[in-house]
Amino acid sequence: MPLTSSFAAQSATSPLAPYEITRREVGPTDVQIDIEYCGVCHTDIHQSKNDWGASNYPVVPGHEIVGKVITLGSEVKYLKIGQRVAVGCFVDSCHTCSSCKADLEQYCLNGFTATYNSTTKDPGGFTYGGYSKSIVVDTHFVLTIPDGLDPAGAAPLLCAGITTYSPLRHWDIKSGMTVGIIGLGGLGHMGVKLSHAMGAKTVMITTSKNKAADAMKLGADEVLISTDAVAMNAMTNQFDFLLNTIPVPHDFNYYMPLLKVDGTMCIVGSVGPTAELNTGPLIFGRKSVADSLVGGINETQEMLEFCAKHNIVSEIEVIKMEEINYAYERMLKSDVKYRFVIDMNSLS
Ligand SMILES: NC(=O)c1ccc[n+]([C@@H]2O[C@H](COP(=O)([O-])OP(=O)(O)OC[C@H]3O[C@@H](n4cnc5c(N)ncnc54)[C@H](OP(=O)(O)O)[C@@H]3O)[C@@H](O)[C@H]2O)c1
Ligand SMILES: [Zn+2]
Ligand SMILES: [Zn+2]
Repeated sequence: MPLTSSFAAQSATSPLAPYEITRREVGPTDVQIDIEYCGVCHTDIHQSKNDWGASNYPVVPGHEIVGKVITLGSEVKYLKIGQRVAVGCFVDSCHTCSSCKADLEQYCLNGFTATYNSTTKDPGGFTYGGYSKSIVVDTHFVLTIPDGLDPAGAAPLLCAGITTYSPLRHWDIKSGMTVGIIGLGGLGHMGVKLSHAMGAKTVMITTSKNKAADAMKLGADEVLISTDAVAMNAMTNQFDFLLNTIPVPHDFNYYMPLLKVDGTMCIVGSVGPTAELNTGPLIFGRKSVADSLVGGINETQEMLEFCAKHNIVSEIEVIKMEEINYAYERMLKSDVKYRFVIDMNSLS
């Protein structure tokens, strides 16, 4: 079985360091991908540091994977050797439940297999992600990168892109609507670009005054500094939809007055238990709070085509694999512009 170099966290407190993993043999419906780039999602930090209490060590993070096909399974017809492909947040699901049949593999009723830290029959017993030289994946879960999309800039589309695209589509965001994107990090900057491309008036809601000019360049029509209570108050009842990407527990109630009657705040940050939700402002406005998880495989391919059509990629800082711990430190200080992407050629 092929050995692959990777970077792994060995415990919640240890920095990521080199680690050798074994990938499974390429099965009939699999492809082996030589990984060129892998984006760095805040989820990688949550999982490396066991923020959710469910990490199985060693954790090899990475679910924004772009690379080239180097081995084809015997039954794989539609991909070619050398083709540029991508893998996102999950690599298997049951294919038979109502969610899978509805192309919503991310809501598989029998549980999808995440790209890393999920139980698997593969060597090691847990999936290992994209902070590695190569990966073997069933073709059902492999996306193709449209011509013209820069491969490094496209990597973050596989999580940050689809996680913001899917709820914007689900809530039918379009011209005439006002959308607030809360938090200008990896997800938030994709949310601004995509909401703008869908035609909505898009407001960046940020704690960081120094990101205001960037937000406008990314496509925001306005910037609202969330720590400015007077400015927040002035925007009461203005928003059809809020996409909340904050990665830490916080008081949702602070943002609810921004919504119009029938407005929805969709939380995509993985924050777990948080402040109690005050239902008062929801009742007096039929407002909703929702959550959303990445997007299905078909929708992810649709998002990639949408991005190619609208010339959208992520704003990235390309780093070497050995710089990953420094990148995590910066992300924890909200200092990322606006997604780190690892050049996998830097890993020997
Ligand atoms: N639902 C899903 O399917 C899904 C998929 C991927 C990721 N996630 C989760 O989404 C979250 C965001 O991920 P990301 O990669 O975009 O993170 P990120 O790049 O670190 O960006 C998060 C941004 O949130 C804002 N923020 C940070 N701390 C804050 C605080 N205490 N109060 C208010 N705002 C704060 C900052 O923006 P400003 O400086 O602009 O305030 C920061 O840049 C993570 O929890 C991640 O696990 C969920
Ligand atoms: Zn992610
Ligand atoms: Zn299923």
